[in-house]
Amino acid sequence: MSQWPDTRILDLLGIELPIIQAPMANSSDSKMAIAVSNAGGLGSLPCATISHEKIRQELQAFKQASSGPLNLNFFCHQAPAADPQREARWKESLKGYYQELGADFDAPTPVSSRAPFDDAASALVEEFRPAVVSFHFGLPAPQLLARVKASGAKVLSSATTVDEAIWLEQHGCDAIIAMGYEAGGHRGMFLSDALCTQVGTLALVPQVVDAVKVPVIAAGGIGDARGIVAAFALGAAAVQLGTAYLFCPEAKISPTYRQALATAKESDTALTNLFTGRPARGINTRIMRELGPMNADAPAFPLAGGALMPLRAISEPAGNSDFSNLWSGQAPRLGVALPAGELTRKLASEALARLSR
Ligand SMILES: Cc1cc2nc3c(=O)[nH]c(=O)nc-3n(C[C@H](O)[C@H](O)[C@H](O)COP(=O)(O)O)c2cc1C
Repeated sequence: MSQWPDTRILDLLGIELPIIQAPMANSSDSKMAIAVSNAGGLGSLPCATISHEKIRQELQAFKQASSGPLNLNFFCHQAPAADPQREARWKESLKGYYQELGADFDAPTPVSSRAPFDDAASALVEEFRPAVVSFHFGLPAPQLLARVKASGAKVLSSATTVDEAIWLEQHGCDAIIAMGYEAGGHRGMFLSDALCTQVGTLALVPQVVDAVKVPVIAAGGIGDARGIVAAFALGAAAVQLGTAYLFCPEAKISPTYRQALATAKESDTALTNLFTGRPARGINTRIMRELGPMNADAPAFPLAGGALMPLRAISEPAGNSDFSNLWSGQAPRLGVALPAGELTRKLASEALARLSR
């Protein structure tokens, strides 16, 4: 018998603990997913920035080390229309940095690509049959979503407003991730791009809970047992944590990123479109301070990152994060550097202790 006050997500996803390790593109892989799933939570594998061959290898690694459920995560954005003038303006605004670092400004701009969910990804889902598939930026085309659902996977996606949550429920989501303003990484917003009206977790979760029948997963700024208990009090049936898991040794992040997280304050993050073209929350770095975290010249997702690549190729090996994205939510001070399995068990046992008081 589960001691959790709401077991809908446990029953739906086949997990013991209502804790989902957020998929974190470029920052987590199968090692973290294995540790979390083996501890009883839901481990996630971010697929947005890796090749299908790499996804296959990661799935095999997971299967060898865990018989628990796995969440495969994909982005499902539309490919952007080319806008050469905007791309030229963007590169021009970086010219001083190219000169400072000695990067070749006249060389062709590398293309920053993040593959949206497609036929080949659907085929991987059909072959490996993960328990859960989650999406960011809405849902894929109906025929692709139908294939995912037919594979038996439960489908999750992020909502940043009540309208997005209702849309996701109407289009077949089995549970909704209510992603508050505090959250690290890309905003999952897809029906509106009005950043200044985005909603905090405390306000978003209960209003989403009231608007949909499917269970709700709270995300954004949850970093310890207090946040988990609060999420349940608001009507959530589970939580999804990203930033908290970045402190684990399994996180695939550079020493500079780890150090920035360890010393980050609650007010050190901002929403920025500089790194990909879509707003995402990360620790302020030099380029965010100097160009403004939101810049109208940054090309559409995911193209903005291309012109930054030559700068990062020089600065990052030198331990310099001036031009790097250091995604983090607004609760970095809550982070503890524990192995991911241990962190999952600690969060769960401390939350249960508080819930039974
Ligand atoms: C480093 C990092 C990378 C992320 N990458 C993804 C991703 O690839 N897919 C996704 O659905 N969400 C991604 N997110 C968002 C998380 O799923 C989650 O909503 C968020 O981390 C919750 O807020 P928190 O960071 O305050 O815990 C990312 C978050 C972080 C911190």
